[in-house]
Amino acid sequence: MCGIVGYIGSLDSQSPAEILIQGLKRLEYRGYDSAGIALLNKDEIYTCREIGKVKGLEDKWLAAENTVNYQVGIAHTRWATHGKPTEENAHPHRDSSGKIAIVHNGIIENYQSLKKHLVNAGHEFYSETDSEVLAKLIGYHYKGDLLQAVTDALNQVHGTYGLVVACKDEPNKLIAARKGSPIVIGMSDKSSIIASDVSAIVSHTKHVIYLDDDDLAVITPGNVDILDLNHRQVSREVQELDWDTDSTQKDGYEHFMLKEIFEQPEAINNSIRGRYNLSIGNAILSGLSGVDKELASISQIIILGCGTSMHAGMVAEYAIEELAGIPVKVMQAADFRYRNPIVGPNDLVIAISQSGETADTLAAVKEAKQKGAFVIGLCNVVGSSIAREAGRGVYLHAGPEISVASTKAFTCQVSVLLLLALKLGRSRRLSLAQGVEVAQAIKSIPAINQLLLDKQFNHIATIAPAYTQAHSMFFLGRGYLYPVALEGALKLKEISYIHAEGYHAAELKHGPIALLEEGTPIVALLNDIEGKDKMLGNVEECKARGARILGIITEGDTQAAEICDDVIEIPSSHKLSTVLSTTIALQLFSYQVAKLKGCEIDQPRNLAKSVTVE
Ligand code: F6R
Repeated sequence: MCGIVGYIGSLDSQSPAEILIQGLKRLEYRGYDSAGIALLNKDEIYTCREIGKVKGLEDKWLAAENTVNYQVGIAHTRWATHGKPTEENAHPHRDSSGKIAIVHNGIIENYQSLKKHLVNAGHEFYSETDSEVLAKLIGYHYKGDLLQAVTDALNQVHGTYGLVVACKDEPNKLIAARKGSPIVIGMSDKSSIIASDVSAIVSHTKHVIYLDDDDLAVITPGNVDILDLNHRQVSREVQELDWDTDSTQKDGYEHFMLKEIFEQPEAINNSIRGRYNLSIGNAILSGLSGVDKELASISQIIILGCGTSMHAGMVAEYAIEELAGIPVKVMQAADFRYRNPIVGPNDLVIAISQSGETADTLAAVKEAKQKGAFVIGLCNVVGSSIAREAGRGVYLHAGPEISVASTKAFTCQVSVLLLLALKLGRSRRLSLAQGVEVAQAIKSIPAINQLLLDKQFNHIATIAPAYTQAHSMFFLGRGYLYPVALEGALKLKEISYIHAEGYHAAELKHGPIALLEEGTPIVALLNDIEGKDKMLGNVEECKARGARILGIITEGDTQAAEICDDVIEIPSSHKLSTVLSTTIALQLFSYQVAKLKGCEIDQPRNLAKSVTVE
């Protein structure tokens, strides 16, 4: 949550302010309550902060017509944790002398006691934030050596931080530090750019260093020294990014969400390419090579994630139990972490996270490892905290997901999890012929999804207007389509603000059916796979109570079409592929409804892309 950018150096083509604001725009999906920038040289620190989106900050900066030559700057886009989204609470925050400015992600847990101590020492506070306390604490320790002051302050802090610090008296360097909140440093000849994720860096350089927890970095133009908190040198590998700048642009689409929906056939192809073998009916996951013995001995699988990633895990629960016969439990990562989970050496724990930075999932991974489980990560962002903490796993290769509402990450997660289910199945109970059938189904996913996009995009736009006025909508599914119903409801509520719930269709009669009124919309996942007959009955029950039915049906299924008010037809395919094309249809439906309602699709209110606080 929140985006950080820092820059030091000289690029003839762009000023530091332009670079920082451009970086913030790339990171805006991480938080958009307020934004701010601090620029400095040896004479002054100039700060500019504004409530709301980065565009507001940019306009304010341009209106100021500041022509001073700065070479260093830090900037931040905020998702509020401590204190409302006001200008006072916006970063960068400054120390009492006004010489030092910081941008901070994370939470300083003991900020109240530190604040009391600083107030007693005569410091005055202008904001309600824990970050200002950290700025003042660094200033309190500053005696002409910024690195030492940051170190002394961090030694007093409990909590998490991704931090960049600038000081007017030492304008030739920036100090960065990390604990629990990511910091990446991009290196080029004459400049260095620091950010909370690589989206802000990729247009400047492909060479990056990821800080580890408890690392401190002293950054000068084109150079970085990394130290531990005792100032011992540590070495971190320079990695090469395989993202290109285009993948973080809208490419002519009106929204990132739409672009990412349409990218899915290609993204899934990238996720599964080279990872299945039709002739042996098996999956080849190089991230799991050499661990067949460990996988053979597992007796239970626990899948951890939050939100959409947890829903992907729920699809995998069906697939792994069916194909491999291993019991699977899916747990919300925070729930796992705080319940003293029963997990041990014979358990495989799969942590799913697009960003690889979700605080609860990361903490759950640590808990599972500590209890001796065999842990693997399923992340999209290479080098992310969860990927590194898990130590082994499978990357999605879905490319950057910028829209706050997750789309392609889900379908790529499910595709990779199906490969894993196939691998586990083949080592246990699936025959060669069965393995080949599953591998073929996985192979078919991108083409079926392309067919769905080609055939249904315009049609879905024509049915969406009938649903924009709904107060509440219910998504019903059974079996593999139950998690899809949950995911469909999540997508609708987060981007259109229509109250939406997903239910197992069998659960309806146990309470939720009381909510149905004349015209209440029901999205019924009536695809022609197991459970369809029962679904037809459930839909009749809803109709009898006046509900309006939007059926997601298999192409040409007249029996299902007849009982629906509107239908979206899904190309006929293997059920494992149907799960994904049905999800994509629901993503398009949510998108069209939200667009008609004039919602901020890529940046829904109150949300941020990576939830790096508990
Ligand atoms: C919903 C959405 C969230 C994320 C969740 C976990 O569209 O994006 O529910 O799925 O915050 O994020 P990751 O996968 O980054 O751990």
